[in-house]
Amino acid sequence: MTTEATIIKKETIADNIVHLVLEDCRGKGFAPFEPGAHIDLHIDDKTIRQYSLINSLDGGHTYEIAILREANGRGGSIKVHDTLQPGDKVKVGPPRNAFPLQRSDFSVLIAGGIGITPIISMADYLEHQGQPFTLHYCTRSAKAAALRDRIESSTYADRTRFYFDDQAMRFDPTALEIDIPDKRLYVCGPQGFIEFIKRSAEEAGWPKERIHYESFQKAEGGKTGHGKAFTLIIDGTGDQVEVAADETALEALERKGYEIPCSCEQGICGTCILDVIAGIPDHHDAFFTDKERLENLRFTPCCSRALTPSLTVKL
Ligand code: FES
Repeated sequence: MTTEATIIKKETIADNIVHLVLEDCRGKGFAPFEPGAHIDLHIDDKTIRQYSLINSLDGGHTYEIAILREANGRGGSIKVHDTLQPGDKVKVGPPRNAFPLQRSDFSVLIAGGIGITPIISMADYLEHQGQPFTLHYCTRSAKAAALRDRIESSTYADRTRFYFDDQAMRFDPTALEIDIPDKRLYVCGPQGFIEFIKRSAEEAGWPKERIHYESFQKAEGGKTGHGKAFTLIIDGTGDQVEVAADETALEALERKGYEIPCSCEQGICGTCILDVIAGIPDHHDAFFTDKERLENLRFTPCCSRALTPSLTVKL
C-alpha cells in the first residue's frame, strides 16, 4: 500500500546529490522506521526506485532521502533531479528494512559515496541510544560528501573519519583491527567498495556473520538477468514456463500471465522473491545473505536464474 506524499524541500547537498524531505499528504505522518530501512519512491506511474531513509530519529513525521544523479543509470534518479520540485506529489511505499542494526557492544559504520544514507541513520540512532561506534565515510572528494555538515556538527563528529580520494586519503584497513569480541560492521556503497571492505574485515579476523552490507548496485553477473535457458515448474499445477536465454525468469512468468510483485527489477529490494521447492538457483541478487544463498530456499526471478535444468517454485 502506498501513501501520497508532498515534497516539502529539495536541496542540492553535494555534487550530483539532492536531498528531499517528504511529508504525508493526509497530515497523519508516515509509518515509523528503524535505521537501515528504505522506501519505494514512485517517481511516476512507471518508475519505482528504492531509497534509504536518513532521519531515523524523526518517528515518521517526515521521510528524508538523498539521491545521486546516475548518468548511466536507468533514468529514475535523473527524473528526480530534473523534474521533481517542492510542492509536487509522489507516492511512497511503507518502510522495509533489509539492513537492520543488531545489538552489539561496538559497531563500525562504513559508507562509500551515497551509501552514507542508511549509515547516517544508524549513527544517529546509536548515538541517541548511547551505544559506542565509529563512522568512516569515503567519497571521491569533499564536495561529493553528502550530509558532511550534518555529521561535522553532530556529537559523534569526533568518532568520524572522512576519506577523500582526490586528496589521496584512503580508508586504512587497520581501522578494522578492533579487539572487542561482540562487534558488528555495517557497510553500504557501491559493490566494489563493499567487496573491498568485506575482504579487509575478513583479513582482520572478523567473522562473516558480523559483517552486514547493503549495495546500491546489483551483484556482478546480474546485469541483465539473462543467461542459459531453463524451465520453471509451478508447484501445485505443474505448469512449465520456459525461460529463454535472453529474458529474465520474471519476464517469462509475466509472458505466461503470472503476476509477480516486483519493484527494483535488479535483485536489490526482495519484492519478487519466490520459494524454491526443487532445483538449485543461480543467485545474481544483492539481497540475500551468503547463508541464505547457500540454503537455496528462495530466489529473485527478476535477475537470478537456475544452475539445474529446471526450478520448481511456489507462486
Ligand atoms: S524486484 Fe527487487 S529483487 Fe526482484
